[in-house]
Amino acid sequence: MSDNPYQNDRGNKDRSITKDGGGTLSAAQNDPRQSTGQKGEPFLIGDAMTGGYGKGPDILHGCTIAAERGEIAVIVGPNGAGKSTAMKAVFGMLNVNQGAVRLDGEDITHLSPQERVVKGMGFVPQTSNIFTSMTVEENLEMGAFIRRDDFRDTMTQVYDLFPILKEKRNQAAGELSGGQRQQVAVGRALMTKPKVLMLDEPTAGVSPIVMDELFDRIIEVARTGIPILMVEQNARQALEIADKAYVLVQGRNAHTGTGKELLADQEVRRSFLGG
Ligand SMILES: Nc1ncnc2c1ncn2[C@@H]1O[C@H](COP(=O)(O)OP(=O)(O)OP(=O)(O)O)[C@@H](O)[C@H]1O
Ligand SMILES: [Mg+2]
Repeated sequence: MSDNPYQNDRGNKDRSITKDGGGTLSAAQNDPRQSTGQKGEPFLIGDAMTGGYGKGPDILHGCTIAAERGEIAVIVGPNGAGKSTAMKAVFGMLNVNQGAVRLDGEDITHLSPQERVVKGMGFVPQTSNIFTSMTVEENLEMGAFIRRDDFRDTMTQVYDLFPILKEKRNQAAGELSGGQRQQVAVGRALMTKPKVLMLDEPTAGVSPIVMDELFDRIIEVARTGIPILMVEQNARQALEIADKAYVLVQGRNAHTGTGKELLADQEVRRSFLGG
């Protein structure tokens, strides 16, 4: 048995994600006792964000998304609802005219994406999330670009989480299957040892079996103490693993609750889950 924090409870689908403090990646940093944040404030929050791209119209209208310590938060909603835009706003890729983004209680609204990475944000965008001509291992090394310390332990942990990546470490990432590429993208983000992980449609274009597998791995990451903020088009499955869930429609919060609550909500079922 390795001491890899990701290996704990492999395959265990118990949704009660706990911080066991054993994670070497970030659990200690997420210790609420060390938090400078407001009591009850989520670890990461994009709070009442209004904004759009460049000088274009607002896409987000008072939109709020957040990830609590030790939890998985899921964002669902129709195509074009602004899910990716909300994620980009939280990551500092577009202007937020109103509202704020706070990480562990600190206002980071005006920081660049790079500065947010240094603060502990890991982001896997919906598209172009790997370097296809580089090998798997080079992708992971690129992920560690902000680190000055020895990142080999983290790479070992990523390889333990995604064993196929170790097997294919010298292959060009572009030659991998869709599900494997997504593993590279998530692994790359983990290389910075993020305090919070943001994933935009990590299961896009993969088979249901691969989707389940990826969800299990994401749950494992959450168990190490890294909160997850994730956009998903597989709404039903995503709500099943969500501690907190947001339905966005036209740049606004349409429904918010626990995954269970939204799965049981008649209106959500009818409008977004096919009855
Ligand atoms: N780079 C951009 N410049 C201008 N407008 C954009 C840009 N990206 C997205 N938009 C617009 O913002 C709105 C929301 O798009 P967004 O990509 O955030 O939706 P989404 O909920 O992520 O959709 P999907 O489920 O298809 O990924 C759309 O009207 C889209 O045309
Ligand atoms: Mg999107």
